[in-house]
Formats: sequence, structure tokens, C-alpha cells
Amino acid sequence: MNIPSPSASADRTLPAVTVIGDINIDMVMGPLAQWPAVGTEAILPRSEMRPGGSAGNVALALKALGARVDLFTSVGNDSMGLWLREQFDDCTATIDLCEAATSITVAVLDPSSERTFLTTVGHLDQQEWAPLARAIAPSARPGAIALLTGVFLLPRLRRRYMEILHSLRGLGYVIALDTGWPPEGWTPSVVAEVQSWLGLVDHLLLNEVEVTSLAGTNNLDDAMRLLAQRLPPSATLVTKLGPRGAAGMGPEGSGHYVPAARSDIFDTVGAGDAFNAGYLSARNGGLGLMDALKAGCETATEIIARFPRNLASASLKQGVSIGETAWPTGV
Ligand SMILES: Nc1ncnc2c1ncn2[C@@H]1O[C@H](COP(=O)(O)OP(=O)(O)OP(=O)(O)O)[C@@H](O)[C@H]1O
Ligand SMILES: [Mg+2]
Repeated sequence: MNIPSPSASADRTLPAVTVIGDINIDMVMGPLAQWPAVGTEAILPRSEMRPGGSAGNVALALKALGARVDLFTSVGNDSMGLWLREQFDDCTATIDLCEAATSITVAVLDPSSERTFLTTVGHLDQQEWAPLARAIAPSARPGAIALLTGVFLLPRLRRRYMEILHSLRGLGYVIALDTGWPPEGWTPSVVAEVQSWLGLVDHLLLNEVEVTSLAGTNNLDDAMRLLAQRLPPSATLVTKLGPRGAAGMGPEGSGHYVPAARSDIFDTVGAGDAFNAGYLSARNGGLGLMDALKAGCETATEIIARFPRNLASASLKQGVSIGETAWPTGV
């Protein structure tokens, strides 16, 4: 099912960021300091039901930034799926309908800003590549970015990832990849599988544990150098470091942006996706590594400080300023 509608406030002089991956319903609640005993109930002070999933988070954050987004994803054929689909009415979106219940994530927030996720498989393991592939047009401009995200939640796409990477490159896209965390852990076969994709990736966007696990060393500097060598020479590796910001390594050199500390952060769900939106919209607009790291961090902190998040009606343009910071270096 195709639902084309233009992003209302988007800058139409820039190419859209294409986002391919998972959306689902997020039920976020907390804080919960201690898990209840089996068979009992805990009453929590705050909650929000909202559109989520890694592709959904990125798409809504891009829209809130005033960037153009082209989303390719799916929902389940139930009332939750209908509600979820409506949340993307203001994005340009191709949303396939799967004969399954819509996937739901319950995210329970810990007072420490850690989160525990409980996710139903739902429609995610039914999502096929073919209906999305049919809808993806050649890149409108050389260098427009396509982000692949949530691969480990999408087994039918995962099996065809090499083909997907090749076909997107053939259509003229620059590829960004955020794998997220593999539910089976970084086993040797998962590491080999992901490493086999890296030669086709232009922006690899992972968090610290993902980078060290994929590289097979606990030293972050070493891990980044090892992974950077597996990417094409023109590619950039970004490591997201939670409150310590983000580090990047690529043809422009290396850098590390540390955002100002904030005490008002309650809900860090989707922090990495919000970072991706800021980083990719900066890159799509032609900005360099340092400005893109800064845009990623500022977008992430701006978004995770919001509760309820209510991104569908947010405008974050003012929150992100580019190009006025001296860059600390070193991870
Ligand atoms: N507690 C925090 N305080 C301030 N900024 C944060 C915090 N957590 C995350 N961020 C911002 O969000 C960005 C991405 O977060 P993080 O490094 O946790 O990515 P991630 O592990 O991929 O997240 P996710 O689990 O959502 O996928 C960071 O680079 C930082 O800018
Ligand atoms: Mg992440």
C-alpha cells in the first residue's frame, strides 16, 4: 500500500533521505526502580504510546528537522497498524501491509536512563523486500543517502542484504547502515555476516559496544581503525557514545563531538535513531564530518529531552545550529 504525501515544511532544494527499515508501536513507561515480583503489578507515573521502530524514529526526527524523508516500511493488518500508518501521514512513505499483528515494544525506563525492551515479533518477520524494492525510484540526485536500519528485526530483508545493498548503490544512492543490536548477540557468524556488508557502506552508524563487538577488540580506537579499513576509502565510520557524544573517522580525518551535559533527560529510547536523523540530514545537505557529528548529537539530545515525545507535530529546526563549535578531538 503506497501512501505518498509531501513533507509539508521540508526544504525542497535538498534530496530526501531515503529510510528503509522497521516501524512499530512503542509503549514507553517509567521510571521503574525495581521489577515487580512475578504475579504482582507495579504502578508507574508516566507513559506514552507513540510510533517507534528504528526507521520510524529516524523518519519522524527528519521531518521534525524540516528535512525531506522517503520512508519504506510495513505495518500489520490490524487496528494498531492503521493507527501507526497514520502517524506517518506527513512523510512521503511506502507502507506495505503484512498479514500479521503489528509489532509492539514495551520500553520500561529505569531511573538511571537505562531501558528494558519487550518486543513482539508481530509483522516484522513478515516484511518482504519485493514490495519495497518496487517502490524505490533511482536516486533523484547523485549522492542522496539511503539509510538501512533495523536489519536484525527484519529476517526476510536480512537474508537479501547483499542484494539490497548492491541494488541501492545501482540506483545511485550513498548507503548509510545502522544495524542495531543482534538479538542472538555478536556471534562469529553475525560478525562475519555484517563484515561482508561493509565494503558497500558509505556511512556506518553504530554505538560503542556494536563497534567493539564487530571489530573484535575492546579498545575503541583500535576497533574504529579496524572497521574503517573494511569500509570503502571514501566512507565514514561513526561511533555513538551516549552522553559522551559521538566520534567519527573517515576521509576527512577523525573527530569527537561532546554535547553539553543535560539533567533533563528522562527517556533515551531512540537516541541513536535521532542522532542518525541529525547526522544524515547534515550530510545530505553537503556538510562535513564535524558539523554532521554536532548535528547528530544536538538532534539526539533535543529529542530525548522531550516527554511526551510527540515528534509528529514537533519542529526542531531552531534546536540545531551548525558550524560554530571548536571541535575537541580524541575519543
Ligand atoms: N544520557 C544522554 N545524555 C545526553 N545525550 C545522550 C544521552 N544518551 C544518548 N545521547 C545522545 O544520543 C546519541 C546516540 O545515543 P547512543 O550513543 O546511546 O546511541 P545508541 O546506543 O545507538 O542508542 P539506541 O539504543 O537508541 O539505538 C549520542 O551520540 C548522544 O548525542
Ligand atoms: Mg543504536
